[in-house]
Amino acid sequence: MLLFIRSVKQIWRRAKSLHSLANMGKFFLGLFCVIALAAFGIANASEKKREIGIFELKRGDLSVKFTNWGATIVSVLVPDKHGKLDDIVLGYDSIREYQNDTTYFGAIVGRVANRISGAKFTLNGVLYKLIANEGNNTLHGGTRGFSDVVWKVTKYQKSGSSPQIVFSYRSFDGEEGFPGDLLVTANYTLIANNQLKLTMKAKALNKPTPVNLAQHTYWNLGGHNSGDILSHRLQIFGSRITVVDNYLIPTGKLESVKGTPYDFLKPRKVGSRINKLPKGYDMNYALDHGTGEEKVKKAAVVYDEKSGRTLEVLTNAPGVQLYTGNYIKDVKGKGGFVYQAHAALCLETQGYPDAVNHPNFPSTIVTSKKPYNHIMLFKFSAK
Ligand SMILES: *[C@@H]1O[C@H](CO)[C@@H](O)[C@H](O)[C@H]1NC(C)=O
Ligand SMILES: *[C@@H]1O[C@H](CO)[C@@H](O)[C@H](O)[C@H]1NC(C)=O
Ligand SMILES: *[C@@H]1O[C@H](CO)[C@@H](O)[C@H](O)[C@H]1NC(C)=O
Repeated sequence: MLLFIRSVKQIWRRAKSLHSLANMGKFFLGLFCVIALAAFGIANASEKKREIGIFELKRGDLSVKFTNWGATIVSVLVPDKHGKLDDIVLGYDSIREYQNDTTYFGAIVGRVANRISGAKFTLNGVLYKLIANEGNNTLHGGTRGFSDVVWKVTKYQKSGSSPQIVFSYRSFDGEEGFPGDLLVTANYTLIANNQLKLTMKAKALNKPTPVNLAQHTYWNLGGHNSGDILSHRLQIFGSRITVVDNYLIPTGKLESVKGTPYDFLKPRKVGSRINKLPKGYDMNYALDHGTGEEKVKKAAVVYDEKSGRTLEVLTNAPGVQLYTGNYIKDVKGKGGFVYQAHAALCLETQGYPDAVNHPNFPSTIVTSKKPYNHIMLFKFSAK
């Protein structure tokens, strides 16, 4: 715009020194071109903001694709023990399918991930009513959470020494019933040839609000189209779970995993005791490392013997939700492959579920003085 004003000034200055009609004609033609170009530029810029695209980051053998629809991880290509590359996350071939998705494949969910009981909570004496989208409860931010909106791309550097993409989303006061405007950013960076770091930040612009973001990628270390993850070996560094009722709402109690199918303190096959549960795993673990502002510590390690791939997940969040894709049924994914239950597992680091309704859980309230800062580190290796 500045450029436009300057050009008009220049042309006007030149026009003042002109005399002939022909030159006046040239002046108006020039002015017209400048206006047309500026108008085109503005339209183009606003179009670009709303455009949904696919973006790729590459470093060494690691390549990760994203879309700004839901700040979603679309694919992760990493080598197996023989150096063969496979895509180890579930997903779709087209953006249209992501827009129609009900599984949250690869997306960042929010404003509050997981369940909020009764789709309501009270904060500073005010009752907030949310959209109920799972029975009487709110799941993953409501019917149109952060996984179902277009994020802006504020930085994109495909390769080089610090490949990164930064998405941002401005959530409005009252969106899905949540209080206050909120500015959210998600920064995905390849910090090494085999490490993806995600930093999720949120700033409350006017009112305090609960914030709990979760990265909802479905991992299958054998490849997205290799079948189920029941033989993956899993270790979770959490010795307690937040016990839930039949609707998967926390009762408020924390219980030891000892002697239960939830015990993954030592590496165990995911499928070793899954039959003892009605559908599979869908549970929040209280991580033993507690909470820290900046420090990331190991939350979980997954190992697939067949491919030799290992994924380590580190975080500064207090909990991790283990979900084994229990409700996936006949979902047509990439390359036409049809995903079924237990085709992948999710390790969604986050605050405890329904924390807004449980004063004994670590607070998820974000204020203008206390911003949100959630770090995840994904380390890939193969042997
Ligand atoms: C959208 O999802 C519905 C139900 O899951 C499915 O029947 C339909 O074919 C999907 N449409 C597209 C364009 O993928
Ligand atoms: C939802 O709440 C209503 C009213 O309290 C109750 O009758 C109904 O059983 C609840 N439904 C579920 C799925 O919990
Ligand atoms: C994104 O995160 C990386 C790694 O932590 C950091 O080096 C980089 O400065 C961040 N980018 C922005 C724009 O904040």
